[in-house]
Amino acid sequence: MNKIIVANLKMNLNYNEALNYGDILRKYNYDNIIVCPSNIHIDLMHKYGVVVGAQDAYYLNKGAYTGEVSFYQLKDLVKYCIIGHSERRTLFNESNEIIKDKIASCFFNKIIPILCIGETKEEYDNKKTFEIVEEQIKDLNISGEIIIAYEPVYSIGTGIIPNDGGIDNVHTYIKKRFKEIYNIDIKVLYGGSVNLDNCKDICNIESVDGLLIGGASIDVNNLIEIYKKVNL
Ligand code: PGA
Repeated sequence: MNKIIVANLKMNLNYNEALNYGDILRKYNYDNIIVCPSNIHIDLMHKYGVVVGAQDAYYLNKGAYTGEVSFYQLKDLVKYCIIGHSERRTLFNESNEIIKDKIASCFFNKIIPILCIGETKEEYDNKKTFEIVEEQIKDLNISGEIIIAYEPVYSIGTGIIPNDGGIDNVHTYIKKRFKEIYNIDIKVLYGGSVNLDNCKDICNIESVDGLLIGGASIDVNNLIEIYKKVNL
């Protein structure tokens, strides 16, 4: 298999831990592992030859925005950026409108967006999954490669995984809609409670092009084991 594995390290690892992470990973030199560390560790991962993504950035290129980092500043260091993660949407009030501006800035700066979408438990229970997903993918201005990560919010960090049919139905829907709306073929990753035990079964679903992994990617050796189990 040739599945993309994205490690979303969130707000984890200190400097020495990040050095160790990059040092171990570079020895394997695997294709298709994208590491998304905190901004302060992007440069060191990049120097280690790791394929790097950012976890978020500000949509304007430069200016008086204390504390922010822009796609323009990141573009020589990262190939990808996670956009619209549910933690950004819920904890930092990111709307679909802001997310659209960020995607546009990614394209402008030649960074591939990994757009996270997915429904909450309540929306799932009310059978609103497709409606919510549609809302999150419509009216995008696509002018380059984009990757989608389907991450049901109730699945992130909870150990709850939709059944196989649930993942496949939504992935197939997303691919179909991107073809219909934008006339492009896209890769769709699954994210939410992926671990060493379930990674293989999830990747056996044909519409799953890879995984976006949070908690189980913080230990680099665990990430490598997941990669091996899925791809080797
Ligand atoms: P998790 O997080 O793997 O810890 O559930 C996934 C994510 O937030 O992208």
